[in-house]
Amino acid sequence: MNPDVESILISQEELGRIITRLASEIERDYSAPDKRLVLVSILKGSVIFAGALMTALKIPAEIEFMRVSSYGAGTVSSGNTKILLDFHRPDLPLLDLLIVENIIDSGRTLSNLTRLLLGRGARSVKSCTLLDKPARREVPFEPDYIGAVIPDRFVVGFGLDYDEKYRNLPYVGVLKPEIYNSNPKRPPMSFMKGNPAKR
Ligand code: PRP
Repeated sequence: MNPDVESILISQEELGRIITRLASEIERDYSAPDKRLVLVSILKGSVIFAGALMTALKIPAEIEFMRVSSYGAGTVSSGNTKILLDFHRPDLPLLDLLIVENIIDSGRTLSNLTRLLLGRGARSVKSCTLLDKPARREVPFEPDYIGAVIPDRFVVGFGLDYDEKYRNLPYVGVLKPEIYNSNPKRPPMSFMKGNPAKR
C-alpha cells in the first residue's frame, strides 16, 4: 500500500467486481440494435475508470472525451461548468451518450453536463459514476449507474488525485490527513472542491 494512504476503501478486486456489474447493467440497457452507445469520459479523473468500463463491455461502444471546470474565476463553485476540452459529433442526434465520471460530489458537473448535451440534441444522455458521495450533494442529481456509495472521506486512486498525485493507484484509498494538512503549496480551502480538504 502507498505510505500516504491510511486505508484501502475499495480494493482492486472489488473495483473489478463493481465494473463487471456496471458493464452488465449497461449492456442490458444498450443492447438493442438501434442503440448507439458513446461513453463520454470526463477528464482527467474518469480516464482509468472509463477505460476499464469500456473493456468490460461486450457490446459496441465508442468513446469521446471532455474536460470541464466548475469554478467561476475566484469563486468557490459558481455552478457554472466551463468546458476546457470539448468533442464535436455531427451525428449527435443518433447517439446515446453515457457520461462516465469517477466521482459525483456536489452534483454540479453531471447536472450541468447532462443539460448541456441534451440541449445540443443528443438522442439520449445518461450517466455512470464509479463513486457517489451523496453527503456532499448541493444540487439534486441521481446518476443512472452507480459503482459504490462512499462516505465523505478524502479518497485517492483509480483516477482520483490530490495535487495531481495518486491517480495511478490501482485501488481507492483514504489519504492520510497529514499529507494535505502539511502541503505548503495547498491552495486556500475556498478554491478547492471534490474531496473534504479540497473545499
Ligand atoms: C472531480 C470529479 C468530477 C467532479 C465532481 O473532478 O472527477 O468531474 O470533480 O464534482 P461535482 O459533483 O462537485 O461537480 P475535478 O474537478 O477534481 O478534476 P479532475 O477530474 O481533473 O481531477
